[in-house]
Parts: sequence; C-alpha cells; structure tokens
Amino acid sequence: MQNAIVGKPILETHDLTRKYGEFVAVDHLNIAVAAGEIFALLGPNGAGKTTAIKMLTTLLPATSGDATIAGFSITHDPSNVRASIGYVPQLISVDGTLTGYENLLLFAKLYGLPRVERKTRIAESLEFMGLTEAAHKSVHDYSGGMIRRLEIAQSMMHRPALLFLDEPTVGLDPIARNLVWEHIVELQKTFGTTILLTTHLMEEADELCDRVAFLSRGKLSVVGTPQELKNSLGDPNATLEDVFIHYATESLDADTRSTYRTIKQTRNMAARIG
Ligand SMILES: Nc1ncnc2c1ncn2[C@@H]1O[C@H](COP(=O)(O)OP(=O)(O)OP(=O)(O)O)[C@@H](O)[C@H]1O
Ligand SMILES: [Mg+2]
Repeated sequence: MQNAIVGKPILETHDLTRKYGEFVAVDHLNIAVAAGEIFALLGPNGAGKTTAIKMLTTLLPATSGDATIAGFSITHDPSNVRASIGYVPQLISVDGTLTGYENLLLFAKLYGLPRVERKTRIAESLEFMGLTEAAHKSVHDYSGGMIRRLEIAQSMMHRPALLFLDEPTVGLDPIARNLVWEHIVELQKTFGTTILLTTHLMEEADELCDRVAFLSRGKLSVVGTPQELKNSLGDPNATLEDVFIHYATESLDADTRSTYRTIKQTRNMAARIG
C-alpha cells in the first residue's frame, strides 16, 4: 500500500504545499503516479484536490515543495511541464458560442500543431470522443456529456502524456457518465495516457482507478489500490465509500465522527430492510 508504485513514475510530488494566507490548503503532499495509471485524488469538499491539480498544472505557484512531471520540475521548468500535460478544469472550459470543431481548432493553434496536421488531428479527436456528427453544431446545443467529451478532446489535441481531469463526470446522468468513462479508459489504452482525476463518486473510482489517494484537510491520509484500501478497514463488505468516510472523519472531533457513523448505520439498515 502507501506510495509504492509499479513502473516508472511520470508524476512525483515532494512536500508540495500551498497556503492561502495562514490557511494550508495542501500540506506537504507526497504522491507518485506511474506512467499509464488511472489515479484519483479523493476527499471531501475543500480537501485540497483542485488546489493540488492547479499547482501540478503550473496555474498556481506552490508555497513550498516541488513536483516533477515527465522529469520536469513544476517550479523550475513550467513550460516543459505544460507541454507534457492536458487539463480539464472543474468548471466549463469550452466556448459555448463556437462549434465543437472551432473549439478544437482554437486549441490546435494554441498548442502550435502544424497547419497541415490540424484538420486530421481535429477529425481524429472528434471521432475518438464520439463527436463527429456534432462537430459543426454550436456548443450551446451540446448536452453536458458532450461538452465534457469535447473538453477532453480539447485537452488531448497535443497528445500529452498526462491528463488532469477535475471532476470529469460531475452533473452527468449515468449514461453520459459511462460514456465519458469509456472514452477516458480508451485514451489510456490507445495512447498510454496517464490520467489523474478527481471525483466524488466512490463507486466510479473503485471500478475504474488503478490507485486512489485520499486527502483530508490538505494532508494525504492514505494511498493504494481500491481493494487494498477496502481490505485495510478489516470488514470484508467494506466499500470505497466506507474508506472515504473513515479517512474523512479521522480528523474530525468525536461528536461529528459519531454523527457520520450513525447516518451510515441508519442507511445500511434501511438498505437491508429495503
Ligand atoms: N483562492 C483561494 N483563496 C483562499 N482559499 C482558497 C482559495 N482557493 C481554495 N481555497 C480554500 O482551500 C481549500 C481547498 O480548496 P480546493 O478547491 O482545493 O478543494 P477541493 O478538494 O477541490 O474541493 P471540492 O471537492 O469542493 O472541489 C478550501 O478550504 C478552499 O476554501
Ligand atoms: Mg475541487
């Protein structure tokens, strides 16, 4: 368990820390992600997941510590880091007034893809994300799931080795969510892309991630495969949601912790009764 990984790390953080004034949002974070993994940062609202991703994507300077991506330091070599990554933020990152094709063209130019390659690359990306038919429709007319897939296509235009997805399935219905996930897994399989994502859906993380790390109040609580973490609770029926609650409440006072446990027990009871 812990931070042991199989294979060469593509991402490593070293005491990565971010403060907002006196408040420590990410506190001496040490994680390593192997090339080709699907890895999730999990934890309650405000745990520091987005802040960590913003530092790793070089959008926010670290207060102290460092991280390397594909061997490049986020503090000393941010432009090489940016060339190695793609990023889909928590909030919408496509332009609603443009078509899907136009959005991708904008990013093809931004990433400096040669003119002769642009058309083919855009067509490939649209095809890959299942958006060929919608290519020339305004994004205003896209569903939430189509927008997410377009954002992923956009972030992959330059074929980065590592892709950051901050809550890629938030707000999507189960069908749209599954479709987004199928495409994420396909990216990993086809291009060997490493994926670092966040989600609040523990079932999703359990099913699809090679390893997950739990953050609580900016600190790393635990990291491992979903199975290892479930086993670590010593209950054969434990779910990843139980792991979440266990680590999220670890740092809370006894009263709050027992409230969580009571809610959980009541829910379990209700589920058994039907
Ligand atoms: N610009 C900022 N100024 C001050 N505090 C901030 C700022 N951005 C984030 N924070 C605080 O840092 C903490 C971590 O926020 P962050 O957005 O990283 O959490 P998160 O784990 O992504 O949460 P969520 O699951 O809700 O997306 C929170 O307490 C948040 O209020
Ligand atoms: Mg967030």
